[in-house]
Amino acid sequence: RTIALVFGGRSSEHGISCVTAAGILRAIDREKFDVVPVGITKHGATVLLGEDDLANYRLEAGALPEVSDNGTRVLWPASTETRTLTLVSSDGTVEPLEHIDAVMPMMHGPYGEDGTIQGMLDLIDMPYVGSGVLGSALCMDKNLVKTVLQGAGIAVAPWRTVTRDEVDRDPSLVHTLDEGLTYPLFVKPARAGSSVGVTRVTEASEIPAALDVAFAEDRTVLIESGVVGREVEIAVLEGRSGERPRTSSVIGEIVFNGRDFYDFEAKYLGAPGVDLELPAQVTDAEFDAIRDAAVRAFEVSQCATLARIDFFLTESGPVLNEINTLPGFTPISMYPRLWEESGVEYTDLITELIELALE
Ligand code: DAL
Ligand code: MG
Repeated sequence: RTIALVFGGRSSEHGISCVTAAGILRAIDREKFDVVPVGITKHGATVLLGEDDLANYRLEAGALPEVSDNGTRVLWPASTETRTLTLVSSDGTVEPLEHIDAVMPMMHGPYGEDGTIQGMLDLIDMPYVGSGVLGSALCMDKNLVKTVLQGAGIAVAPWRTVTRDEVDRDPSLVHTLDEGLTYPLFVKPARAGSSVGVTRVTEASEIPAALDVAFAEDRTVLIESGVVGREVEIAVLEGRSGERPRTSSVIGEIVFNGRDFYDFEAKYLGAPGVDLELPAQVTDAEFDAIRDAAVRAFEVSQCATLARIDFFLTESGPVLNEINTLPGFTPISMYPRLWEESGVEYTDLITELIELALE
């Protein structure tokens, strides 16, 4: 089987996606799969890369990897009747590339994790790893997914939403955004990931600056109450042929040792003050409550193949923080590590993702 591994993309998580793809390329079972590495530049150009290009992608402060535009263009199949990619070389020569069986669109954030590329692949009936258009778009939007989850009886943090247009029309709105919420607040763009654009706010005077940071990512912004609880994450895989989704048998925990927020620097750049504990120490009852909420959330949000679901574990049970439909697969990412701790090796996990996509 041949897989197009797609990465990079137009979102602020471009570099993380490159490291995710490098991790997958290292671990994928070469006896079962051939891989065509397809990069998407920050400007949205779809280019053919070599495996050597990915070998250099790593997490480094100030120098996150980037898909470089080598002048090639990869064209997707033009109809449901073919699965052959087309390569346009930098000199303009057009030739058929490879027949592919499925796509792994391992991009994080808008234009990758939000239903856009998924819709394009649906148009040509191309199997792909991950959720479909609706599930991807819904889980990408922190405001809309919370509305749906709440409607399904799953606890979420109290929040309000404001748009850039609303603030432009009535600037005094900014002073009322904390009403009914509990500090510290988290000000977040509706559609972004890896904590990009998120600010932890401890007093009202900090809200305007936090809004500016978040509006740089999206025109809709959430203002959320900070939840008192442990931050834990669980991995979910779709069930085979009609079975319910299953979760990892352990959960991971973000333990705060001097930092008060799991921000981008702590996630990827090794900033001190945050440790990952895996497996986290939880009671059987706590684990069951997290697993049940995760499986239900996966189903009501129309997720497919995989998701990592993040919770706050509070005294009154789990409160769902967010659903990541294409979670990171970097060396420090929780999703593959949760499965490894559960007895599913990284290589077998990738095989399972592809087989689920092909099912
Ligand atoms: N959005 C990042 C990649 C994650 O959730 O792992
Ligand atoms: Mg996220």
